[in-house]
Amino acid sequence: MYSMLNLVAGFLLLLLQLLQGGSALDNGLALKPPMGWMSWQRFRCITDCKTYPDECISEQLFRRHADLIVSEGYADVGYEYVIIDDCWLEKDRDNKTKKLVPDRKRFPNGLNVLADHIHERGLKFGLYQDFGTNTCAGYPGVINHMALDAATFANWDVDYVKLDGCYANISDMAAGYPEFGRLLNSTGRPMVYSCSWPAYQSEVGQMPEYESLKKHCNLWRNWDDIDDSLESVMQIIDYFGKNQDSIQPHAGPGHWNDPDMLLLGNYGLSYDQSKLQMAIWAVLAAPLIMSNDLAKVRPEIKDILQNRAVIAVNQDPLGIQGRRLLMKNNIEVWRRPITPTADAEYSYAVAFVSRRVDGAPYAISFTLKDLSLNNVYGYGVQDLFEPNSNLGVFRPESHFNTRVIPNGVNFYKFTALGI
Ligand code: GLA
Repeated sequence: MYSMLNLVAGFLLLLLQLLQGGSALDNGLALKPPMGWMSWQRFRCITDCKTYPDECISEQLFRRHADLIVSEGYADVGYEYVIIDDCWLEKDRDNKTKKLVPDRKRFPNGLNVLADHIHERGLKFGLYQDFGTNTCAGYPGVINHMALDAATFANWDVDYVKLDGCYANISDMAAGYPEFGRLLNSTGRPMVYSCSWPAYQSEVGQMPEYESLKKHCNLWRNWDDIDDSLESVMQIIDYFGKNQDSIQPHAGPGHWNDPDMLLLGNYGLSYDQSKLQMAIWAVLAAPLIMSNDLAKVRPEIKDILQNRAVIAVNQDPLGIQGRRLLMKNNIEVWRRPITPTADAEYSYAVAFVSRRVDGAPYAISFTLKDLSLNNVYGYGVQDLFEPNSNLGVFRPESHFNTRVIPNGVNFYKFTALGI
């Protein structure tokens, strides 16, 4: 009798989940932080194609970038998603069907043709929308047409959805974001789901609901938008450092914190500051979403974006997000546990970040113990920005000395050694 009841209860639960399109996201995607390219940071909402033909948000821009991701070698090191951000829509939905309509002049062939172009190059196609009545730039949002829009995305062969949160009530988001995730799932097309919900909560001082985000989203924007400056990068790094106890534990395969796009290749960061963003984004297990003009990235910046050793830290299979370990004399030490492990001891990526501006490279010295690197057999050390470097073996008592330039980073891998 008891097992019969159990069976009936189990069946009812299953039925409920099926009716809801599954209870959690569970789409098997983004097992490593997504890598790709997105239009917003570099191209914002440029819609005047007459004056700015190479920069306006148009089919041409995304075709060109899909081609460049492959021809410039970015695809070979893992960059995969080509994502249209805001400003791709007509201002009104289709009168009869109520479907979203891509801008008729700038996307004259519709999105399927563009999706094909992207897929033919072995890449994946991402699209921006907004949970509210309007996107942040004022185009129609999904709120009253969620099922229709999820189905439309699937029909357009979308692989990744960024759902922003302008023009919405924050109090509606706890139900609304999971609901849209369920609707995406129930189309049967696997789509990575990027949620901006927590950025809107943290903006008004609310604590993001990470347990729910983890269940319903593959990644989420924790905080404010990035701008093209070191100051902006540092503010984001600070936010992630100060709030790491509430943020860091929630990252893992399938669900990531997102500090926003990579600025590399644009106007605001120097060569050394570009390394700094790349290193800390690797420590944070952040999505590596570039936003730049890939035809114009200088070779030395491209080398940073394509640094395989740094990307390997970012994509480490353990998926453990790093933390700010200590701050001393305006030097920050960030540390992330990574593979390989030796006798249950992790290896570590360690970034020394200088916030100093006093001129000379600043000399620092730590024992490995100070950095909580306690493996008795020691660590082989490599400079992640000097491929094939070998700085020797260091044990917990050994001193590790390095000099960091103003607003710079030194980034090392400490590989745990076994017996
Ligand atoms: C918000 C987002 C940005 C970008 C713009 C588009 O500000 O946080 O990343 O998508 O909207 O309008």
